[in-house]
Amino acid sequence: MRSRRIIGTALATVLGALAGVPAAAPALAAPGNPGEPRYTAGAPSAGDPYFPDQGNGGYDVRHYDIALSYDPATRYMDATTTITAAATQDMDAFDLDFRGPDVTSLTVNGHKASFTRTGQELVVSPRPKLKAGQTFTVVASYAGTPPVITDPDGSIEGWVPTDDGAFVPGEPQGAPAWFPGDDHPTDKATFTFHVTVPDGVTAVGNGRLVSKTTTGGRTTFVWDQAEPMATYLATVTLGTFTVAESVTPGGIPVYTAVDPRLVTQSAAAVARIPDILEYFTSIFGPYPFGSAGAIVDRAPDVGYALESQTKPIFSSAPSVGTMAHELAHQWYGDAVSPARWSDIWLNEGFATYATWLWTEHTGGATAQQTFASSSNYGRAATSSFWQVVTADPGPEDMFGNVPYNRGAMTLHALRGKIGDAVFFKLIKDWVAGHRYGNASTAEFVDAAQKASGMDLTAFFDVWLYQKGKPASW
Ligand code: TRP
Ligand code: ZN
Repeated sequence: MRSRRIIGTALATVLGALAGVPAAAPALAAPGNPGEPRYTAGAPSAGDPYFPDQGNGGYDVRHYDIALSYDPATRYMDATTTITAAATQDMDAFDLDFRGPDVTSLTVNGHKASFTRTGQELVVSPRPKLKAGQTFTVVASYAGTPPVITDPDGSIEGWVPTDDGAFVPGEPQGAPAWFPGDDHPTDKATFTFHVTVPDGVTAVGNGRLVSKTTTGGRTTFVWDQAEPMATYLATVTLGTFTVAESVTPGGIPVYTAVDPRLVTQSAAAVARIPDILEYFTSIFGPYPFGSAGAIVDRAPDVGYALESQTKPIFSSAPSVGTMAHELAHQWYGDAVSPARWSDIWLNEGFATYATWLWTEHTGGATAQQTFASSSNYGRAATSSFWQVVTADPGPEDMFGNVPYNRGAMTLHALRGKIGDAVFFKLIKDWVAGHRYGNASTAEFVDAAQKASGMDLTAFFDVWLYQKGKPASW
């Protein structure tokens, strides 16, 4: 379910070559009959410069069915992932992104396929070859211990063992730790998870709980995520959890799973979920998914929360503000995902601004006061804070202060510039127009100009594209 390609094959090929992975063969003029298939390898990259190994060309994933069993005591996983995809070219080879344990078998359309592994590229050679437009099914089985992945900023993600299970964050590159796929936000798909764990362990995935069956000392949880989801938002966090199920006044089922040691500390934030969703629905438009919730775990080495679709995951007890931030991401980040990682301020700036609005709504500082504070516009012009570019922070600073705080400041300044009525219509229409897909900074700039009828080039230039503290706008 790819909404758009970022760049053409030429750059993807260059990036693939730079990354040391095999590049797609260039498409030569066809000497044969017109319409005769010319099989080439799918590109090994989506062409995103922040993570050149991420994503692949030649196909669009439609659905992931991930069946895995995991034993926290041995940290051993036994898994089979079934990918349903559509070929976008005549193809004799394609890549999957995968950093998980040993692949024990792999078939394409029921035929055993040969494969090789280089870095995170699992290169598959399907026989018979695939034709453009053809839907195909890949079944990959693998077993062993999935890896913890370290990010450019030094933080960890992927499959992170906890003292009673595993914490499973995937942003920006953790998903290939535990399932093979097309790991770039532009290839969204629906997901089904079947997770088998020892009795007493609860496995929590995205979407709705379809069934829970216990046999022979093990329990299988089946979760279904019916709306398209970016791979980085997938989770099956598991452990000992206190579970509660309820329904919001608006009719959205809410499933919360909280580490029993954190129930008291997180009670205030968990209790506010319905109020936060109701407030955000009033300003951002309808909640975009069929279910909601949260997973509060104890994963001290992770130290951050993540907006996993329908159920954000917290590595410690969250404050109400952190809960609001992750729930705001359901609109900005999850329903509408970045076209490329340099657009991360569209996630973090919006979620941060949403929290400013929530704070004002609940009687705290006004958004204007937060804007002006010493952690925001009040920072000295000489501060190094102003030296990171909002709309291109680089892979090391994508979760640093700038996409969050300068991103939120950008939105507040925009609101001042175009007025409340235009601003709030713009951000609501943004979700309605792009939900279940992706959008870029350039598209946001364009939408803001169209909505306001103003030339905002200079405004966005100083806030998004230039270093330095904006002095006037
Ligand atoms: N997107 C998360 C949030 O702000 C934070 C996050 C995800 C993160 N992955 C990360 C922070 C990796 C640091 C490193 O809600
Ligand atoms: Zn965030």
